[in-house]
Amino acid sequence: MSEKMRSTSEIIGREGVDDLEAILSITNTDVDEALHTVHSNYDTIFTWDYEKGTRPKLDKLYEKAKKSQWNAQTDLPWETPVDQEELVVSGAMSTGGFGTGMDLSDSPFAKWGEKEWIRLGVEAQNWTLSQFMHGEQGALVCTAKIVESVPWIDAKYYAATQVMDEARHVEVFAKYLDDKLSGHYPINAHLRLLLDDIIADNRWDMTYLGMQIMVEGLALAAFGFMHQMTTEPLLKQLLRYVMSDEARHVAFGVLSLQEYYQQLSSSEMRERQEFAFEAAVRMRDRFLQQEVWERLGVSAKEIVPLLDQVPERRVFQTMLFSKIVPNCKKLGLLDAADGWLRDRFTEIGVISFEDWADTGEEYDALQAEPGSAAVA
Ligand SMILES: [Fe+2]
Ligand SMILES: [Fe+2]
Repeated sequence: MSEKMRSTSEIIGREGVDDLEAILSITNTDVDEALHTVHSNYDTIFTWDYEKGTRPKLDKLYEKAKKSQWNAQTDLPWETPVDQEELVVSGAMSTGGFGTGMDLSDSPFAKWGEKEWIRLGVEAQNWTLSQFMHGEQGALVCTAKIVESVPWIDAKYYAATQVMDEARHVEVFAKYLDDKLSGHYPINAHLRLLLDDIIADNRWDMTYLGMQIMVEGLALAAFGFMHQMTTEPLLKQLLRYVMSDEARHVAFGVLSLQEYYQQLSSSEMRERQEFAFEAAVRMRDRFLQQEVWERLGVSAKEIVPLLDQVPERRVFQTMLFSKIVPNCKKLGLLDAADGWLRDRFTEIGVISFEDWADTGEEYDALQAEPGSAAVA
């Protein structure tokens, strides 16, 4: 088998990672599509080895997952009233007011009053929760695929519990959007490209790498950040429940790939590194929330450089990688193939997380007790 190393433009479709024009040129052109089909051509694997517990850590995770199920309809206080506009205003006030930290003169924001800023806050929240919902459906589909394609019984058992978890996550985000917020957004083009690539790859470990390590690793950090920031009690509790599941899912990825990666060649590892890098860049791109700017009729190309001036935003974007980088390190992905991925993560400014806690065991700390008020 001959592998060929790909250039940055072959991996992510552009030469410069920060080429704003190239990023914004990728848009979702079919926002009205009701169904989206991705072809995948992979082997479905039966195993006749039913010996439970051959992989003790996966077995332990499976037993934990069975006890940690919760009910999206009955375990959350859905009666909580949510005033989206009021939350936008109080959120802005707590950070010094609208547009803090940006030089607004000569910008599309120069003429904005409170009404426009509130609209931005509301749309941004609708967009964010919509993308969470779409990403959760990606996780549902990927995990169902893992049930079929992974060769070990302990992993099939565990993945089956994750399929149920992800169904519940899609359900809670859809319900929150419908009952408490004010409109859906279609899937972001960069997120869709990433999900398509994960699904289309026929190697079982790539599903794990793309979903459990990269997408879910980022989701865990993003949910954690939002959980910390939001003052809305229903959302806070919802995120707390979802995070306790997500921590197990990321652990599932780490525990499964750790063993498998030990026997891969350097060129096979390089392909995994390239995939991890592609995923990292796609997820970075999606956080430009270009569909929001489009809906508000302002130019993303003018807005994005302004937003980059806000220190909190830069911190947030970097923090999104706080789980991914240590997990990649634990899997040997940073330093394999002459440290190729270490160099890429250095370029995008996230390598400093390499010695943070990985998620192989962290799920115990994030455990929430379903039905108890103590989780918030
Ligand atoms: Fe999920
Ligand atoms: Fe998940």
